[in-house]
Amino acid sequence: MTPYVTITVNGVPHPVAADITLAAALLNIGVTAFRRDLDGLARGPVCGMGTCFECRVVVDGIANVRACLAPVRDGMSIESSA
Ligand code: FES
Repeated sequence: MTPYVTITVNGVPHPVAADITLAAALLNIGVTAFRRDLDGLARGPVCGMGTCFECRVVVDGIANVRACLAPVRDGMSIESSA
């Protein structure tokens, strides 16, 4: 049985599998727009290994957290540009 944690994304709580990255959790719940570029276009994970910086989100008020490198944890609050 997969253990779950609860994360809040843009004010909405979601149960997600524990022991996965935040990027995987966000994609699993249907979030594909992690941030907006200077032209307002949606951006999302490209490399999945910390080099492209396209997966940046705000986590617990801290900006520019690379979701592909951050493990989910219970109570995490995420702001994306969905
Ligand atoms: S997906 Fe490229 S840095 Fe996270």
